[in-house]
Amino acid sequence: MCGIAGCTGMSDAGKFLLNALKRLEYRGYDSAGMTLTGDGFRTIKVAGKVADLEAKYLSDPYLSLTGIAHTRWATHGVPSENNAHPHLCCNGRISIVHNGILNNYLSLKDRLEKAGHHFLSETDSEVIPHLIESLYDGDPIRSVSQAVEQLSGSFAIAVIFKDHPDQIICARKGSPLVIGLCTGCTLAASDVLPIVPYTKKVIYLQDGELASLTPGRAQIFQIKSLKEVSAVIEDIGVDESSIQKGAYEHFMLKEIMEQPEAFLNVMEGRVDADGEQVVFSELLHYAREMTSFSRIIITGCGSSLHAGLIGKYFLEEIALIPVSVEQSSEFQCRNPIVEPGTLVIAISQSGETADTLAAVREAKAKRAFVLAVCNCENSSMARAADAVSYLHAGPEQSVASTKAYTCQVLFLLLFAISLGRSRHLSIDRERELVQTIKKLPLFCKEMLAAVPQIRELAGKYSYARDFFYIGRGYLYPTALEGALKLKEISYIHAEGYHAAELKHGPIALLDASTPVIALIGKGVGQEKTIGTIQECLARHAPVVALASETSGEKLSPGIDRIIIPECSPLLNSVITAVALQLFAYYFAKEKGCSIDQPRNLAKSVTVE
Ligand code: G6P
Repeated sequence: MCGIAGCTGMSDAGKFLLNALKRLEYRGYDSAGMTLTGDGFRTIKVAGKVADLEAKYLSDPYLSLTGIAHTRWATHGVPSENNAHPHLCCNGRISIVHNGILNNYLSLKDRLEKAGHHFLSETDSEVIPHLIESLYDGDPIRSVSQAVEQLSGSFAIAVIFKDHPDQIICARKGSPLVIGLCTGCTLAASDVLPIVPYTKKVIYLQDGELASLTPGRAQIFQIKSLKEVSAVIEDIGVDESSIQKGAYEHFMLKEIMEQPEAFLNVMEGRVDADGEQVVFSELLHYAREMTSFSRIIITGCGSSLHAGLIGKYFLEEIALIPVSVEQSSEFQCRNPIVEPGTLVIAISQSGETADTLAAVREAKAKRAFVLAVCNCENSSMARAADAVSYLHAGPEQSVASTKAYTCQVLFLLLFAISLGRSRHLSIDRERELVQTIKKLPLFCKEMLAAVPQIRELAGKYSYARDFFYIGRGYLYPTALEGALKLKEISYIHAEGYHAAELKHGPIALLDASTPVIALIGKGVGQEKTIGTIQECLARHAPVVALASETSGEKLSPGIDRIIIPECSPLLNSVITAVALQLFAYYFAKEKGCSIDQPRNLAKSVTVE
């Protein structure tokens, strides 16, 4: 989604802003722009990539200490130079960048147009500079606070004034903004990635706050009262090396390969040194809440939702607690029953997904206890929930989630054990489960070693335009996730289905050009899925089976196979997901797609 960057006091603001935008590219965007201050304003925009903006800037560079910049993910109006940010007011003396959506922009625009303001874009954001202009009396802080008081919706903004060339005013409600503090210069960005190379000291602007940034200084105020608040200065918990691609061609491949280590990080501090017990020390403070509920609702979007679906299976099987899984946006569209004594688990890699954030607020309004499970620290969701647990999977920059997804699944497995233990699970069973889970990094390494075989199969099937992914039990949500990975990064139609549902409609679509990716587990579902494969073969559909040596023994010869390590069914969904990530990756690579930044997608979707 949109990314904001700003700096004041930087020796070369243009260079900083372009580098900052490059670090925000992973969020997903379609146009970019920046305004630099100096003798006047210099604003440049492109309907394209940051590299295009850089080329435009370098053809006529402008030395400046202060500026704001933006990557736009189109909501109101097509990706075009006109709609790209920054947007300026009528007299060109105020420039703004905005992340979020304004619900009341039409009425504001109407009022401003009647007062003589002239608009150049189709965006909601353009009302902001005009509104500020209408209120400006020489005081940037007061005019921005009065303007944002009139905005309804969500926003993070950065504003510069020609009259105050060294000052940036930022304000936030609902969309993230981080301020970086360096000696002699001050930075702002939508997340910490552009700030990491310059400083570890940051302030996370809170909802309802406004910041005035001048070189080396940040003052924080309440938007409403303009009372100055003493902000908490925090250390960024991310180091530069963890956000570099290193020798990998894509972040996605790097993140897939990082999974064994990420699993160890999820387990660190949660599985005791002897490997016998699961302890969620971050939740000890909520021991009463964690033992008193009788029902769980898991909510999330995209891959996080799929992780939640597997979490339901774990929690019901291991902790014997009834669980329902609710797509986050349905929390508002319908009226799910949230009784007192319900634990709501909101899962989100970014902690910024607007639908999930809205679900958290709705659940809290219904008096549920809300636990946010996030990967990014200091997110909006972490603050909105009653309690937060972090995955510690490390930064994930490729738009398609890989290590965060599998770490969410692992987290939910550990959480199910911990809840089970506080209810009925015996110490022996807990020990047994923990010993099983501890083998996950090794099984994952074994799976990752299958790259050559998976790459070859991805090449073999690269002709296909439609895929079906099928599975039962834990492997049903895994099928949904596998299909999502393929469509996200290769733009190929892929449907995940419960293997039993295939015959209730989708089978009509099968023919020799429609490969079926069949996920075969162990136990009850195994033979049935092998039966479903026969039904696919009878319709001439090519089948790729993902199964261990033993669970694939009964497969007809001649079926393409990806061998899954011989692991417990509890781990099978994670390991199979790793294989499907690799399949999607090499398939998209074969097709020459933009793997880390697929078209139309955003890493964190901050609009509902
Ligand atoms: C976007 C991303 C998906 C992600 C979903 C939820 O749609 O493209 O990869 O799964 O958001 O994101 P979250 O940060 O809430 O897990």
